[in-house]
Amino acid sequence: MNLDLPTSKHNESRQGEALVLDKPVLKNNGRKLYIESYGCAMNFSDSEIVASILADQGFETTADFKEADVIFINTCSIRENAEQRVRNRLKEFKVSKQRNPGMVVGVLGCMAERLKAKFLEEEKLVDVVVGPDAYRDLPNLIEQVDSGQKAVNVLLSREETYADISPVRLNSNGINAFVSIMRGCDNMCSFCVVPFTRGRERSRDAFSIVKECGDLFNAGYKEVTLLGQNVDSYKWTSEEGITLNFAGLLEFVALINPKLRVRFSTSHPKDITDEVLYTMKKYDNICKYIHLPVQSGNSRILELMNRTYDRTWYMNRIDAIRKILPGCAISTDVITGFCSETEEEHQETLSMMDYVQYDFAYMFMYSERPGTLAAKRYADDIPEDIKGRRLREIVDKQQAHSHLRLLEQIGEVQQVLIEKRSKKSALDYSGRSDKNATVVFPADDRFKPGDYVNVLIEKCTTATLIGKIVG
Ligand code: SAH
Ligand code: SF4
Ligand code: F3S
Repeated sequence: MNLDLPTSKHNESRQGEALVLDKPVLKNNGRKLYIESYGCAMNFSDSEIVASILADQGFETTADFKEADVIFINTCSIRENAEQRVRNRLKEFKVSKQRNPGMVVGVLGCMAERLKAKFLEEEKLVDVVVGPDAYRDLPNLIEQVDSGQKAVNVLLSREETYADISPVRLNSNGINAFVSIMRGCDNMCSFCVVPFTRGRERSRDAFSIVKECGDLFNAGYKEVTLLGQNVDSYKWTSEEGITLNFAGLLEFVALINPKLRVRFSTSHPKDITDEVLYTMKKYDNICKYIHLPVQSGNSRILELMNRTYDRTWYMNRIDAIRKILPGCAISTDVITGFCSETEEEHQETLSMMDYVQYDFAYMFMYSERPGTLAAKRYADDIPEDIKGRRLREIVDKQQAHSHLRLLEQIGEVQQVLIEKRSKKSALDYSGRSDKNATVVFPADDRFKPGDYVNVLIEKCTTATLIGKIVG
């Protein structure tokens, strides 16, 4: 359950995590890089690309911004409060910069793209502004700053996928990794800033994706999450003219090894096909978990949001998942208080939640974003207190459903991938089930993080399954 707070789940806004390289840097240049990321998994994945580009230039990463020579903040624009967080953080960097005027402060990612050079005027301490498609230019941009200038590159590209850059995995547990399969978004959901900050949709070379996943598996990783804003519209054509869609790519990755779990995010209700569902069914190592953002349960609001599906279409997709993949976990995103949403329309979102009984949801109050279709066309006219009350109703319902979904699993034996010692007790392991639920159980010396174990689910809290290893 989430109201914009950080959790370990992969498709949700995280904030302010510093990333540290665990490999030594060749040709150390004596300068230290601190990089902190906000927003979606895509941004975290991009920070790894940035670290990789700069590691080649001899930069070592540090977890302490106070000892850094270069501070990068990889930003998110999705909601007003995401941007506010970044601005507050920049204020904290100011003190360090005053102490060390040679320090380079850079803003990367979606806010950089949205505000462009304006950032330099608004935030005097910022030296460099770099959009998500311009990271290859970072070495030059840092050089420019070193020579006393400010530097900006916010060019968006129709081709850049960073396919050939092998990301250095930062802060990695060596078990789960994110792999970008596409960039940008061609949908124009009226509330959403992403098409403006990330540019046109493009799919990455399938061979480079499979190679990266294969290398990860050979390095001991056990789970990859394929990332894109709309993975179902993945489409890539080889030099020989062979075209691969998302179902094809998924199969290609699943075939690497049955012991490599495959997850993906995000699916769009208008594009998720039965072919994808049948591919999921065919391979045990493709996790039975789908994140299918509904946004609203009401067809008029969905139309204003330009989601290009309606209530009935969404329900049909849910029915298809239930039929083809019985027991598959489903999660969602909901926006409440979108422009002109009536009480009855809000009730339809609640009734959609009853229909699906989601395992998990990310729930947000509508936040108007400058430049989007909704900002231009519709008034943000639902008062904050009503948005807040509707959100509480949605959160309460989701809490009940999440709990119900966990209760249903008591008595089952599930395959769990051990990830770490539990935060609450070092005597316990914590891992995730196929359906993406966190499972906690007494540690057993015969097994270590990265191993699969069968766990009998004995009870649950509101957010965690609890059990013991069997068999
Ligand atoms: N590509 C994904 C979503 C990416 S953004 C998809 O299409 O589903 C993640 C979530 O943030 C969205 O699903 C939406 O629920 C939420 N979001 C996006 N813009 C928002 C806004 N302006 N106000 C509130 N929530 C928003
Ligand atoms: Fe935004 Fe819609 Fe694209 Fe998702 S599909 S990133 S919500 S425009
Ligand atoms: Fe945020 Fe950009 Fe991701 S706006 S959600 S970091 S694509």
